[in-house]
Amino acid sequence: MLFRNRFLFLLALAALLAFISLSLQFLHLIPVTIIKGDGVTGKNRKRIMPDPLTEPPVVDPLYEAYMYCNTPIGAEHSMEGRVPHNLKLLSVHVLIRHGDRYPLYAIPKTKRPDIDCLLDPHRKPSHPHLEAFISHMAKGSEGQMDGTLSSLPRYPSHPLCEMGELTQTGVVQHLQNGQLLRENYLKKHKLLPNNWTSKHLYMESTGKSRTLQSGLALLYSLLPNFDWKKVNIRQQWSTIFCAGNCDCPMRNQYLEEEQRRQYTFRVKSSQLEKAYVEMAKVVGVPTRQLRASNPIDSLLCHFCHNASFPCTTNGCISMEQFKVIKSFQLEDEKESHEKQLYYKYALMATHPLLNQTVMRMQRIAQGRKDEVLVLYSGHDVTLSPVLSALGVTEARFPRFAARLVFELWRNKDKKVEHFVRILYNGEDITFQTSFCRREGRQPGQLLCPLQTFAQFVKRDMFTFLNSTNYYDACHRRVF
Ligand SMILES: *[C@@H]1O[C@H](CO)[C@@H](O)[C@H](O)[C@H]1NC(C)=O
Ligand SMILES: *[C@@H]1O[C@H](CO)[C@@H](O)[C@H](O)[C@H]1NC(C)=O
Ligand SMILES: *[C@@H]1O[C@H](CO)[C@@H](O)[C@H](O)[C@H]1NC(C)=O
Ligand SMILES: *[C@@H]1O[C@H](CO)[C@@H](O)[C@H](O)[C@H]1NC(C)=O
Repeated sequence: MLFRNRFLFLLALAALLAFISLSLQFLHLIPVTIIKGDGVTGKNRKRIMPDPLTEPPVVDPLYEAYMYCNTPIGAEHSMEGRVPHNLKLLSVHVLIRHGDRYPLYAIPKTKRPDIDCLLDPHRKPSHPHLEAFISHMAKGSEGQMDGTLSSLPRYPSHPLCEMGELTQTGVVQHLQNGQLLRENYLKKHKLLPNNWTSKHLYMESTGKSRTLQSGLALLYSLLPNFDWKKVNIRQQWSTIFCAGNCDCPMRNQYLEEEQRRQYTFRVKSSQLEKAYVEMAKVVGVPTRQLRASNPIDSLLCHFCHNASFPCTTNGCISMEQFKVIKSFQLEDEKESHEKQLYYKYALMATHPLLNQTVMRMQRIAQGRKDEVLVLYSGHDVTLSPVLSALGVTEARFPRFAARLVFELWRNKDKKVEHFVRILYNGEDITFQTSFCRREGRQPGQLLCPLQTFAQFVKRDMFTFLNSTNYYDACHRRVF
């Protein structure tokens, strides 16, 4: 009962705040970041760039969990594609996390959440494109897909979801993303010509059905009824999209150090330990076994789907226990930022992907017309290090169906012609990045020179690692 009320309350609160901030933004066209100074909407805004005067002193774990679910509640405001009129959009690079999915782990000796992974346009949450999406996916055998992608189902289809399977919520989240990007980039800025071909679009997905299906759902809303023959999806074998440049021993070393940090931090938390012991008692397994089953992943699924937490004859897993684990996750993220081991990992992990993005942007700046729209479909472990490497320290952990967008713009009237903008879930974070923040923002300046971004990726991102290039950073360590 408590759970149900809390959930409804959060849902109502989120809807109200979204409405207030939406109206304000649409009426005055003020950038999202300015609205944050306003205490009324402060809580609805992402933790990105917090205002110390209005940020609530205590982070609410349930509110954070709700943000993570990203439950579709209708129209979303976004700053994507919003720039002064004299600029021309040249290319867009989109990095997404898959949408809502079934848990990857089961809590031992409990009933799995009862979630239907058969798509049904009449079940909520739904989307006006859902029905057409299903029938278009059924015709997808002409699409070209690399590796094992072609053998994966193109949409979820099990009456009881399989582990890790994309849910209907996940499909709807990406249909919404695609629709937003269509409005912002294709309709307003004519990013693709009407006679677009396969060379205009570059698409990559990891080999999981949830990432492929998420990418397809986004693509479908972006380009309704697209011609399957024009679609060519590459498989990315690495979750960090390092492609041919994955060999980097130091990266792995920092990741291991980060994992040790996390372990040390975890065992120090007596509250967390207490919650695990209690939950293990409820479930009837040793604490160690419960911890290894990563219960937060499964509990988040219950939470996001408004399903009550698992019960046994010993009782039920409680909202209090869920809050303790979620709070710990948030504290752990904070410590991780402070210790900077993850940051070092992230700089190395994301260089290949950022380097590829810069290379594509530079080619387009030189006049090439292909690969103007790039879509990478990945995981939380794909997006999270990119945010860290860019220096956007206050960004929330990637929610379901999170999207990170890099835009390339041209201003013919300026000496420096090419600019980038970076947006996370629709919010402009360009000047929260370490490289553009440093640049110093001119009054009214909305973009960051491409050259600044390129210099960061080619050279400056290694300064912190006491190196000048990727190879050196990856292969040597200065003590
Ligand atoms: C697409 O249309 C443009 C003009 O709108 C034309 O210049 C171009 O040659 C066309 N490309 C193809 C492949 O038909
Ligand atoms: C949550 O579930 C309860 C039934 O358990 C239902 O009455 C309520 O409407 C649901 N809330 C939402 C937002 O779906
Ligand atoms: C970075 O991109 C350049 C092309 O601009 C390429 O030659 C180089 O191999 C790339 N390096 C890495 C580590 O990805
Ligand atoms: C870089 O060098 C400084 C000074 O020698 C040292 O304190 C720092 O830990 C080094 N950073 C890395 C990532 O090795």
